[in-house]
Amino acid sequence: MAHGPVALGALLLWIIIFQLQIEQTVQTWWNLGTLYLVGTQPLCSQLPGLSPGQIKMCQLYHDHMPSVGRGARMGIQECQWQFRHRRWNCSTVAGDMSVFGPVLNIASREAAFTHAISTAGVVYSISRSCKEGELANCGCSQEQRPSDLHRDWIWGGCGDNIEYGYRFAVNFVDSKEREKNYKIGTIEQGRSLMNLHNNEAGRRASYITARVACKCHGVSGSCSLKTCWQQLAPFRDIGDLLKDKYNGATEVKINRRGKLQIADPKFNLPTAVDLVYLDESPDYCLSNPSTGSLGTRSRECNKTSEGMDGCNLMCCGRGYNTQRASITERCDCKFHWCCYVQCKTCTQEVDVHSCK
Ligand SMILES: *[C@@H]1O[C@H](CO)[C@@H](O)[C@H](O)[C@H]1NC(C)=O
Ligand SMILES: *[C@@H]1O[C@H](CO)[C@@H](O)[C@H](O)[C@H]1NC(C)=O
Repeated sequence: MAHGPVALGALLLWIIIFQLQIEQTVQTWWNLGTLYLVGTQPLCSQLPGLSPGQIKMCQLYHDHMPSVGRGARMGIQECQWQFRHRRWNCSTVAGDMSVFGPVLNIASREAAFTHAISTAGVVYSISRSCKEGELANCGCSQEQRPSDLHRDWIWGGCGDNIEYGYRFAVNFVDSKEREKNYKIGTIEQGRSLMNLHNNEAGRRASYITARVACKCHGVSGSCSLKTCWQQLAPFRDIGDLLKDKYNGATEVKINRRGKLQIADPKFNLPTAVDLVYLDESPDYCLSNPSTGSLGTRSRECNKTSEGMDGCNLMCCGRGYNTQRASITERCDCKFHWCCYVQCKTCTQEVDVHSCK
């Protein structure tokens, strides 16, 4: 009776594979944003959310991982700031290994933005870490001197290594999409191409917002001499750019040849920095555990605003409650010579509105 153990073995194997598949679909590297807190250096195999290719990258570039974690965190925080007045506000779901909950399983504009901003966060954080000398494989930027730089100025100093950050983000972030063999023309392949396109948009956003920064030299600050280098824009600028791209995102679909094409031929083809999405967003009005929408109940809203933060749109017509609240702030500040500022504290009564 050799069948028993074999069948049992096959069953166990099946369970293990099935489990692995479930885990892979719900976990993502965004977890690194919460895992890499100050001073911790977990083993790659202990990091939930990494795909097999990402685990290999983690082993090869172990010293990069805290920086990847910071990048993920920057992306998530920027997403929450950009969307703070919207129904979907980029909130993370505590204890959920997918970080944002099932809501990003929908191939929506919101998913597009999240992929772009988190990838931009990795480019940002790795580029800066290279410059700071924190990583063994990279140092200052090797970028060519811009042709329009004043010819008396020196191209030197230590710039953010965006070329390296960009390449690393291609290898690390995109590997998750590239290591699966989806059938051509399927929804799954479409979603994978969508993620890849939006990851690239995030990388380009970091690159095209970068600028030249300079420092003056010369006799007592005369600035007759300048040293200049490549510098990343503040991350807020990258967030603002990608938020614009979110507003103008292009709806696409997957065709039978396994390529993304625009859903409505009236519109222009998206460029590499534009965001693309496959599915319309839900309205995010009500809490729905199956889609992962948290709903807007008890969200704060602005009674006088006509925009998305206004009570009308935020509360989806359900109305709102008003509470009196007192806020305490510093006021009547006076500058005293020299040098301190003295303030009073004022308490003010305000109405706070929140959705029913
Ligand atoms: C985001 O929305 C959720 C669900 O409505 C809410 O619990 C949370 O407080 C909101 N976050 C912010 C910063 O408004
Ligand atoms: C509410 O919206 C109005 C109009 O957009 C704006 O002027 C005001 O500052 C907002 N109030 C708060 C508390 O955000």
